[in-house]
Parts: sequence; C-alpha cells; structure tokens
Amino acid sequence: MADFEVITYEKKDGTGYVTLDRPHALNAYNIRMRDELYQVLGAIKDDSEVKVAIFRGAGERAFCAGADLTEFLTAPSPAIARQVRWARDVWGLFLSIPQPLIAALHGYVLGSGIEIALCCDIRVASEDVRLGLPETGLGIIPAAGGTQTLPRTVGRAAALEMLLTGRLVDAKEALRMGLVNHVVPRQELLPNAERIANKIKSHPQAAVVCAKQAVVRGLDLDLEAGLALEARLARLLA
Ligand code: COA
Repeated sequence: MADFEVITYEKKDGTGYVTLDRPHALNAYNIRMRDELYQVLGAIKDDSEVKVAIFRGAGERAFCAGADLTEFLTAPSPAIARQVRWARDVWGLFLSIPQPLIAALHGYVLGSGIEIALCCDIRVASEDVRLGLPETGLGIIPAAGGTQTLPRTVGRAAALEMLLTGRLVDAKEALRMGLVNHVVPRQELLPNAERIANKIKSHPQAAVVCAKQAVVRGLDLDLEAGLALEARLARLLA
C-alpha cells in the first residue's frame, strides 16, 4: 500500500488499526486524509485477513476536530466537490464495509470526527471525550452522513438538539444517550477496544458478517422486509 502522510494503517492478528495522524491539528480531516481513508477502507473491505478494524486518533487531545478549517475557504467549487464525492464516496464506502468497525474515541470528536465514529459499529470512549457537530454554527450542515447516522443512533430529539445547538456532549451524557457503548479511563481505551475486537474475532467470521449486515441493512427496512432479510441471511449461513 502507498505511503500515507496523515493516517497510519497496520494489521495485527486479524485486526486493522487505522489512526488519524495529524495531532498538531487535532487530526482535522483534510483532503489528503479523505484520499488516504478511501484507500485504506478499500483495502480493509477486500482483505479477508482483516476480521475487525479499530479507528483511533493520534496524540493526547483529539480523535478528530472535524473538517480542516484552513482548507475551508480554498475548497473547490460545489460542482467540483460533488464530482469528487461521486468518484470518492468515502462515507458510502465506510457504510459498505462488511467487517465490524470499532471507534476508540478520546478528546475532541467534532464534525467529520463524529461522522467517522458514527460510520463505525461500536464506539468506546475515554472519560475526556467531547463530541459535537459545530457545522450549523458555521453556516453549513454535516455532509458526511451525520444528519442521517446521528438520529439513527441517538433518536430524533437528541440528534436535533446536538445538530441545531452545536452543544458538545461529555462522556457521561454520550453514554446515557447511547452515542457510545462504553466509557473507560484514557489508558484503558485501546485495551478495551481490543478486548471487544478479540471477542468478535473468536466467533465464526461468516456469522459475524451476516449479523452485522442484518442489523445495518435491516435498520433501513420496514419490519417485514427486515425479517425477510434476516431469514435470507440465516439460510445462507445454514
Ligand atoms: N482544522 C484545522 N486546524 C484545527 C482544527 C480544524 N478543524 N481544529 C483545531 N485545529 C488546530 C488549531 O488551529 C491549532 O493549531 P496551531 O497550534 O497551529 O494554532 C491546533 O489544532 C490546536 O487547536 P487549538 O484551537 O489551539 O486548541 P484549543 O484547545 O484552544 O481548542 C477546539 C480546541 C477543538 C475547541 C478548537 O480547536 C476548535 O474549535 N476547532 C475547530 C472545530 C470545528 O469547528 N471543526 C469543524 C467542524 S465542521
């Protein structure tokens, strides 16, 4: 795989580790990061050796402080941005990954940062986490799925409050609203994510992939169609 500049990717014992790696800018999501993430997500999706992947942020202060504001004013025109998005649909690719994805969150998790976390299946956070969507205050709306993935995770009222006020939620509140699965001390963050990954890896992979597919695809279906999907996947496994 090509050399990366703003993320790192390693594979160990069937786990893929993706680290957002611009700690001097609180791991802000820039165009380079979009391109590298697209490449690494494609690699994970096609790699049968990767049973589960963990996403995290480098440095002490943030998982990711959102879109890189220094690129904001120099961004290409909306038409070009849309073409690029069609060519490089990072968020669609994220949501199409068959393997379970775990986000290990610390510090600031803002804008694109929370949207990356919401594309993951399980979120663990350290006690210092602060999550939010500041976009509306900047005169834009989240464009990496946040308006869709957040309400599907925390419900309409909590999602709208976060989106419309831009208020940051702390670890306790995030846990209470179901935005994160677990809150642990900072030094326990990666070990906790790895324990979950190891448990998942100990199960037959086909069952894991089918269970994820049933839940993720089923959430967008009505109950009847969801049950039919579950039956199809169960037959496939049997
Ligand atoms: N894009 C580019 N650089 C960013 C950034 C972003 N989204 N967020 C932080 N940084 C950079 C800062 O410019 C600063 O760089 P510098 O040391 O070269 O000056 C460094 O990261 C540290 O951030 P700083 O603002 O000094 O830390 P802080 O503790 O005072 O504040 C935040 C932390 C997260 C509250 C603040 O950085 C912030 O509001 N960031 C923007 C969040 C945002 O609006 N994201 C976009 C969502 S669409």
